Amino acid sequence: MIGCVVPRPIAWVSSVDAAGVPNLAPFSYFMAITHDPPTVAFSSSPRATAGGGRGKKDTLRNVETTREFVVNVVDDPLAEQMNVTSGDYAPEIDEFTLAGLASAPSARVRVPRVAAAPINMECRVVQIIPIGNLPSNLVIGEVVHLHIRDDVYDPASGRLDMHRLRPVGRLAGHLYTHVHEIFEMKRPAVDYKG
Ligand SMILES: Cc1cc2nc3c(=O)[nH]c(=O)nc-3n(C[C@H](O)[C@H](O)[C@H](O)COP(=O)(O)O)c2cc1C
Repeated sequence: MIGCVVPRPIAWVSSVDAAGVPNLAPFSYFMAITHDPPTVAFSSSPRATAGGGRGKKDTLRNVETTREFVVNVVDDPLAEQMNVTSGDYAPEIDEFTLAGLASAPSARVRVPRVAAAPINMECRVVQIIPIGNLPSNLVIGEVVHLHIRDDVYDPASGRLDMHRLRPVGRLAGHLYTHVHEIFEMKRPAVDYKG
């Protein structure tokens, strides 16, 4: 099923626990769900626990507690460090340090962001919806502050430069895709005659 919905964007989600310990992990059950107000969603699947049960991932626990997170966009140079942060580490492990990533403070939330990421979306939780076999949860967050690195923004068009962004897409299993081949296709106008 996962391989049928490809390529998927990756939300590299930073969060903090109640004591302020940072956490960072990738989630490719991820999408933008509306732009008014800017809103994104990702889902956290259960984690197998030592006793054979199903537990919550650190990210889910943190966003339930603090109601804040940051979505960092993964580009080509950050792919390997993103992968390092996907390990099943204990909650007290700071994946920024583990992966050798510099953090930067956020403007509107207490969660640090990945300094080298081309885009950081600071989010406040809108809703956490239990889905399927628990504890699977869909986390919906409103983007309250957006950081865009200068080199991926095209001031002439007021849009992101898709040739410079170079995001990484998730396929299935251990497979990923680059975004290096881009084509344009204009949408038909309302009075389009074919
Ligand atoms: C590219 C990638 C995408 C992933 N997407 C998801 C996802 O959408 N949902 C999920 O629960 N786990 C996903 N994972 C696994 C989590 O990253 C992994 O369970 C991680 O340990 C969770 O960390 P945490 O406990 O610090 O939150 C993904 C892993 C990778 C490498």
